[in-house]
Order: sequence, then structure tokens, then C-alpha cells
Amino acid sequence: MSLLSTSHLSLSIGEHRILSDISFSVDSGEIIGLIGPNGSGKTTLFNVLSGFLKPSTGTIHLHGEDITTLSPAKRARFGIGRVFQNFGIFRDMTLFENVLVALEALSKEERALKGDLRKVSMETLEMVGLQSHAHTKAGSLSGGQMRLLEIARTLMSGKELFLLDEPTAGVSPKLTQQVADLILQLKKQGKTVLVVEHDLPFIGRICDRVIVMDVGKVVLTGKPNEVKQSKGLRELYFGADPTT
Ligand SMILES: Nc1ncnc2c1ncn2[C@@H]1O[C@H](COP(=O)(O)OP(=O)(O)OP(=O)(O)O)[C@@H](O)[C@H]1O
Ligand SMILES: [Mg+2]
Repeated sequence: MSLLSTSHLSLSIGEHRILSDISFSVDSGEIIGLIGPNGSGKTTLFNVLSGFLKPSTGTIHLHGEDITTLSPAKRARFGIGRVFQNFGIFRDMTLFENVLVALEALSKEERALKGDLRKVSMETLEMVGLQSHAHTKAGSLSGGQMRLLEIARTLMSGKELFLLDEPTAGVSPKLTQQVADLILQLKKQGKTVLVVEHDLPFIGRICDRVIVMDVGKVVLTGKPNEVKQSKGLRELYFGADPTT
């Protein structure tokens, strides 16, 4: 059974049709790249999946259960973790404290499973290579480092499905590689990731499958290589091929 599936999702805001008839499914442990031109509806789809926007029609299932009408908080408890850009970081706290408060917000059972929360906080920072900044205030980090911290906090929240919206935007090549490694590490742990990115080589390196959106619709899906070689993708990014 798939972990996540959407069936005929559509969203209209006023007169605008923003998402049209979106159906796809994601298996446990897959890394899926969601790509498409600016304004094609990728972030809106994430808002619908995480519960911040209600679809006009269609359904969303997680673990076979209909979650279409659940609040974002309930979906988070159900295992959906979303990474927002620079959202949720306390700039006046140290990195260590930032991770610790996120761990302390877990349920009693989850906390008990983690054991020594101070130790886990440090391990989380080590995982993203930020341990040497553990006792610096988060506000002094570079944009890329903040992104890593934000991802790290979400990752150790014990979620099963991660929605990452442009995790490498404004991130240096070195940190981009770290984000890629982090996502691959998650896969090893059996987690599932949906990642929106404009950086196509990054998508090619880490994804099992790619979903391409245009004007609110899914126009193409396939393995990264298949999608890369398709005429449809070239037309979408570079306009129609005049020789055909
Ligand atoms: N709250 C809203 N009200 C009206 N229109 C909206 C709203 N949110 C998004 N849109 C429109 O929906 C379309 C899809 O936007 P969305 O932000 O989902 O695209 P995107 O694929 O994430 O783009 P980008 O790659 O630039 O991040 C755009 O035309 C946008 O203007
Ligand atoms: Mg977007």
C-alpha cells in the first residue's frame, strides 16, 4: 500500500484554478522530486498536503486513511513534517537550545524513546555538521546553515513523510551537498521525502522519481533520467522545439 496518495485534487481560489485534478501516489521510502516552472502550483500542493489549504475537490490518503479534512496539527501527528524557509527557528537561542526545545515539544512517549534529550540534540547538530556552532545564537547563522538547522529540527521530530520546499534555495554548493546527504540518510532510515527544487542536477542525484507540474497540473512523471530526456520537459523549460 502506498504511504501517500492523492486523488483528483483541485483547488480554486476565487476565479483562479490553481490546482487541477492531481492524482499521484508515493511509496514508503521513496524520494520524490516535484519540479515545474514558477507559479506551477508546487508550494500550493504542499499547502494542501500539509493541511494549510483545503482542496476544492479530491482526497488525500496517508497510510490508507482519509486525511483530507484534518488540521495541519493532526496531520503532523499523523507523520507529515514540513520544512519552511527559516520558519520556527528561535534566533535568540543557541542552536543547541533550538534543537532541545523541539525535542521537548514531542509527546511523552516519543521523548521516552529518544532517551537523553541533551545528547540527542548534540547528535542532531553533528548530523548536519553544525556541532561547532552548538552554543552560538541561531540568528548569527548564514542562510544555508539556518536551512540545515531547520531541516535537522524537522528530521528528528520522528515524522515519516517530509515535505521540503526548495531546501537548497540560497544555499552554498557545499551545504547543498550536505542537504542532499541528509535526504539520502533519511531514505536509509526508511523515511519518505517529497522535495520541491529548481536545481535539477540536485533532483537527479537524490530522487527515485520525479513529478513535473505545469499550470496546476501533473504533466509528467518518471525516473529522473526518463524525465530529463523527455521532450515535454525541454518544452516546459525552454519553450517548444521549433524543429518539430
Ligand atoms: N492565496 C493565493 N491566492 C491567489 N492565488 C494564489 C495564492 N497562492 C498561490 N496563488 C497562485 O497560484 C499559482 C501557484 O503558485 P505556487 O506558489 O504554488 O507556485 P510554485 O510552483 O510554488 O512557484 P515557485 O516555483 O515560484 O515557488 C500562482 O499563479 C500563484 O500566483
Ligand atoms: Mg513555491
